[in-house]
Amino acid sequence: MHNIKKITEDLFWVGANDRRIALFESVYPVPSGVSYNSYLLLDEKTVLLDTVDKAVTHQFMENIEHALNGRHLDYMIINHMEPDHCAEIPTIVNKYPDVKIVCNAKIQAMIKQFFDFELDDNQYMIVKEGDSLNTGRHNLTFVFAPMVHWPEVMVTYDTTDKILFSADAFGSFGAVDGNIFADEVDYEHRYMDEARRYYTNIVGKYGPQVTAVLNKAAGLDIKMICPLHGYVWRKNLETFIDKYTKWASYTPELNSVLIVYASVYGGTQNAAEILSTQLAQYGVKDIKMYDVSVTHPSYILADAFKYSHIVFASTTYNNGIFVNMENFLHDIVAHNLQNRKVAVIENGSWAPTCGKLMTELISKLKNTEIIGSNVMIKSAVKADKTAELDSLAKAIADSI
Ligand code: FEO
Repeated sequence: MHNIKKITEDLFWVGANDRRIALFESVYPVPSGVSYNSYLLLDEKTVLLDTVDKAVTHQFMENIEHALNGRHLDYMIINHMEPDHCAEIPTIVNKYPDVKIVCNAKIQAMIKQFFDFELDDNQYMIVKEGDSLNTGRHNLTFVFAPMVHWPEVMVTYDTTDKILFSADAFGSFGAVDGNIFADEVDYEHRYMDEARRYYTNIVGKYGPQVTAVLNKAAGLDIKMICPLHGYVWRKNLETFIDKYTKWASYTPELNSVLIVYASVYGGTQNAAEILSTQLAQYGVKDIKMYDVSVTHPSYILADAFKYSHIVFASTTYNNGIFVNMENFLHDIVAHNLQNRKVAVIENGSWAPTCGKLMTELISKLKNTEIIGSNVMIKSAVKADKTAELDSLAKAIADSI
């Protein structure tokens, strides 16, 4: 049975939720599921904006058929060619063989890479930056958004109703639970952390490109944002745009300390715990701690984008950095995190080496300063080391 959601008088959400998926992109846990958003515009011409993942084909096709109510599908706009949105292009072409695909040249090339169906060239409308499609009452303009989050990405702006179809931008993990508008749910408490985790892990590497799109968007009068995942924004857009501006420029949201540790028998954890208590005694609020071997790195990376200060504490393992910490540090470097203040604690029962190696990886982060001296412990924290930890805590607290 169909399940469509009304956005405006002539715009409908025809997407679907997936709450069974274990790992989005085979990497990210999504305990609250994920939505694949697709939108259908019923103007003088009918227009589908993007499709969905193959996991929800049946629901998607029922939705479209019901929403069209016997009408023909005239256009299918493709903004992004990642399979969580483009997988159903062949299904649409098969069911509506006269549909015209509206996309840019890179998208057309990727359609041919991914799929085997053949369409006459006149069934493609290839657009350039700033081109428009008039569908009757609506005028749709295309704005290119390369690397947000693949090179072919564009966004579509409805100049009539001032709606931005933003592709992956402004999306979130989490299914849409009944409501479709962000102002109908407690977004700050229920979804903002997941929106941050989604952005930082998936698009976080491409801050300059996201900033470029935000600058383009600043020139548009936007009343509503329809992303490809999560809720539709029609109120307080500036709240979310402000978050994106911070995330894209690697600006911390919170002046406080994130402590990430890797501990085998508890000695390194003990050092991290002592440091956290000393930080609290120096007045630092909202300290957060993770055992990097316990929490999925996507959650820790999201908080690394949130916090101004990060302490990395690791044991030495195989004469190197403990594997989960090493993976996490590579993840942070790969995501281009910058503008942070960091500190290092190392442990090693007979040959501590990970402090130097961690520092080498951290040095790859732009505009990132190491605070204080590395604290080295051997096996367990001894009385003389509590003073070193205290000095480090004071140095960190003073820099906040
Ligand atoms: Fe939601 Fe880049 O795909």
